[in-house]
Amino acid sequence: MVNAMARILVFDSGVGGLSVLDAIAAVPYALELDYLADTAWLPYGLKTDAALRDRVPHLISAIARAWAPDAVVVACNTASTIALEEVRLAVSVPVVGVVPPIKPAAALTKTGVIGVLATPATVRRPYTDALIRDFAQGIRVVRFGSSALVEAAEAKLAGAAPNDAAITEAIAGLFEARGGAEVDVVALACTHFPLLRDELAAAAPHAVQWLDSGAAIARRLVGVLNPPAGAAQSGAVAITGGVSDLPACFRTRGFSRVFAVGDGSDFGLTRRF
Ligand code: DGL
Repeated sequence: MVNAMARILVFDSGVGGLSVLDAIAAVPYALELDYLADTAWLPYGLKTDAALRDRVPHLISAIARAWAPDAVVVACNTASTIALEEVRLAVSVPVVGVVPPIKPAAALTKTGVIGVLATPATVRRPYTDALIRDFAQGIRVVRFGSSALVEAAEAKLAGAAPNDAAITEAIAGLFEARGGAEVDVVALACTHFPLLRDELAAAAPHAVQWLDSGAAIARRLVGVLNPPAGAAQSGAVAITGGVSDLPACFRTRGFSRVFAVGDGSDFGLTRRF
């Protein structure tokens, strides 16, 4: 058990990890939550596996060296499904990754048809194939990959209207595919997508359960760290690709400090606000 407040570094390509951070903040433990967003490289879902495997462990380990967290949460399915082992090798603290919630979706479906909504990278990964093979036997799985939805979630959290076309395209991709009319549970296998749950639900042709991995990650983190009881606190944000102010979606979650991450190989931090 860590004695004082446990420090957690939550990582994503952009603001999607905030859906996981919100779930962690909801558990009654003394956790300081810091956040790293690789905005310069967003969207990860259109990057190659090799490029992500090369960059993500170096970036996370550089910030972990500077901030000394007690654990790292890779709150990004696209990175978790390709680079989790490499991140574990690069840092000296426990690393918790997100897993597409295919197992709980398969357990919940009554029609025997589930949807999986992810980035174009996650949707075709062998990791996703293996989850379906191991946990969704006898279940029809309708998959759809969207990067436009990632951008729509970014826009929403930046205060703009999310792009309706991205929502409509994703809904059509799931519910108009073969067997899609029977989908009754959708696994949100990208951490940006729970941020659009209301918009997706409003556009869907019938009511379905939209599952994400946030609560499971929070439980796993508590199991790994055994932190003292208390309340979560937001700390600092580090953002790649240039930042001049603390974005509102972080301010409203109690963050007060923002650092720019340099684009050199040492990923140096500069306080901006
Ligand atoms: N939020 C991320 C995920 O869970 C990545 C989105 C992106 O950058 O493509 O997959």
